[in-house]
Amino acid sequence: MGRRVPRAGRASRVGRTGPGGGLPARRRRCGRQPGADGVRAVPSPRPDRWGEPVPGTVTAVAADSERNGEEGTGPWRRRLHVVTGKGGTGKTTVAGALALALATGGQRVLLAEVEGRQQIAQVFDTPPLPYRERKVASAPGGGEVYALAVDAEGALLEYLEMFYNLRSAGRVLGRIGAIDFATTIAPGVRDVLLTGKIKEAVNRPDGTRPSGLAYDAVVLDAPPTGRIVRFLNVSHEVAGLAKMGPIRAQADGVLKVLHSGQTAVHLVTLLEEMPVQETVDAVAELRAANLPVGGVVVNMVRPSLLAPADLRAAREGSLDVEEIAAGIKEAGLEPTAELIAEIAWEAAQHAERVALQERQRAEVARLNRPVYDLPLAADGMDMGMLYRFAELLRAQRMVP
Ligand SMILES: Nc1ncnc2c1ncn2[C@@H]1O[C@H](COP(=O)(O)OP(=O)(O)OP(=O)(O)O)[C@@H](O)[C@H]1O
Ligand SMILES: [Mg+2]
Repeated sequence: MGRRVPRAGRASRVGRTGPGGGLPARRRRCGRQPGADGVRAVPSPRPDRWGEPVPGTVTAVAADSERNGEEGTGPWRRRLHVVTGKGGTGKTTVAGALALALATGGQRVLLAEVEGRQQIAQVFDTPPLPYRERKVASAPGGGEVYALAVDAEGALLEYLEMFYNLRSAGRVLGRIGAIDFATTIAPGVRDVLLTGKIKEAVNRPDGTRPSGLAYDAVVLDAPPTGRIVRFLNVSHEVAGLAKMGPIRAQADGVLKVLHSGQTAVHLVTLLEEMPVQETVDAVAELRAANLPVGGVVVNMVRPSLLAPADLRAAREGSLDVEEIAAGIKEAGLEPTAELIAEIAWEAAQHAERVALQERQRAEVARLNRPVYDLPLAADGMDMGMLYRFAELLRAQRMVP
């Protein structure tokens, strides 16, 4: 994790790809086969350092929060899960864990990204993703997670091929500069191409599967909160611009998926002022745009190290000095006045952070959405921890 990976090569962009997408089986199988080539199948989770999720973490959500039948209360049986949040709060990590959670028990899930940053490859510790669906992980019970890095250029070529049957679309477009048009001049068109590809994956049929669909669920590692409504609603703008034709049909198709009760837009936040404020604003914007708000995932939760009474005492500076000294002795150190003061100061800092977390949690609860907690992984993220997070999301009933 955290390893930087180079941008994907630009070869082999055209063509419906991945499960049921028309690629030869040989290429479809090119995802890593867990266990076969050194990738852990289902790593046994690390010992639990923070305890099982506290019962009642999932906020009881009043039935009156249902809006137009679009907002459910979880567990999310929706087929398209859009994951957004303030930058750096853990969108890609949560999207990855959610994909694993949804795949658990034998489902096939697609995890897609749209910002050309190759973040999924980093989280799953695989080589950069081309514009081709590729298996990146197995989930317990025979589930599979495929991943795809959608880019506007690849989506445009694929789209033109589908609608106009342009075999050498790439060559033709390269000459007339239509790719520049789609990727730079018309950001609205760019976004409709990206969301259009996601819609295609959500709806793609596959007669060989019991569900009749290529994917049981699609998880989108989406743009951050500041851009999410524009990104999802851009189909609306395009639908207004183009009165007819395939672009309009594409835009209408995207809107239909977003508003059909198949979609949930989940928000990732930290229990800090700025991310919580952005979450509150984003929920209001999503609701105003009539987009289906899902759950709130509170990431990087720090467990409280002290009992409530000690937290209070630490903040008031009234911790029992004798007790601190005894603890220091127990640790085999000399309880000097400096050391005692330092520990009392650290306890006060910790108590302050816990109190801040609690205030922010109250803000999150006011959103009246189900809330799911993921702990701060003290040693950083790795694949084992990602599977652990998937388990925690399942244990909190974010997924059925
Ligand atoms: N619960 C966690 N505990 C510890 N580290 C975490 C946790 N969640 C995410 N991280 C780490 O925090 C960093 C940011 O996470 P991530 O890339 O998922 O955020 P993001 O919201 O997708 O960021 P960006 O806005 O850049 O796309 C990564 O290094 C990731 O490994
Ligand atoms: Mg990300």
